[in-house]
Amino acid sequence: MKRKRGSNMTNGNEDLRKNYDKLSKYYDFISINAESKLQDLALKMLNIQPDANVLEIGCGTGSALIKIANYIKKDGSITGIDLSEKMINQVNKKSRKMKIENEIKLYQGDAVKIMQNELKQNIYDLIYISFVLEIMDNEKIDQLLRIIKKQIHPDGKIGIISILQTEDQNIVFRIYKKLNKIIPNIIDCKPIDLFSILGNHKFMIDEYKIVALYGIPVLICICHL
Ligand SMILES: C[S@@+](CC[C@H](N)C(=O)[O-])C[C@H]1O[C@@H](n2cnc3c(N)ncnc32)[C@H](O)[C@@H]1O
Repeated sequence: MKRKRGSNMTNGNEDLRKNYDKLSKYYDFISINAESKLQDLALKMLNIQPDANVLEIGCGTGSALIKIANYIKKDGSITGIDLSEKMINQVNKKSRKMKIENEIKLYQGDAVKIMQNELKQNIYDLIYISFVLEIMDNEKIDQLLRIIKKQIHPDGKIGIISILQTEDQNIVFRIYKKLNKIIPNIIDCKPIDLFSILGNHKFMIDEYKIVALYGIPVLICICHL
């Protein structure tokens, strides 16, 4: 698997990178089985074709990339970007074990910068983003969605999983939101109003599902330009 060092980072990114470097060894243990089911559902909703060029933004330890590799044959391509070098190392470990390391291109660094530079010429049929937008500030989300618009094929699809800001007041969600305020370094996914964000950027929603992850509302959304 090819790994390319990305462009320079801002301080906010540097803190995030350090956090995810630290988490990388334990990430697959703490990201629960239910998350894997959401991932399966999102990938199914994306209807991935064997010749698709797929990009995952914030690929983490590569649990989705490995699944995506099962759909893609040799005319397609799989690319992952992540801020954290150690998360990327985990992808490398998994893909080597499965002998698919040559099928996945990996880039380490800020997704916006990498898409503006190293991947500038690339157009993708599918872009997948799972539990990533909600750890970015609003300006970064806007930058990312603007660059996605430039690099998604006119017939392409974007699949997003994110914790959804809703009126839901169940106890688990209330505690989760409190923890996000008190210990944002650890509970770093803040619920976002993804419907409004996508609407502001003129994305059209094809299909969505709202699923409760132990009481926390999660939106799986497939959209296009
Ligand atoms: C909560 S984890 C989600 C990982 C994976 N997508 C999943 O669903 O398991 C967020 C990931 O996004 C990455 N990330 C955060 N900001 C990023 C950025 N600006 N560019 C690229 N990756 C980023 C982090 O390093 C981390 O691996």
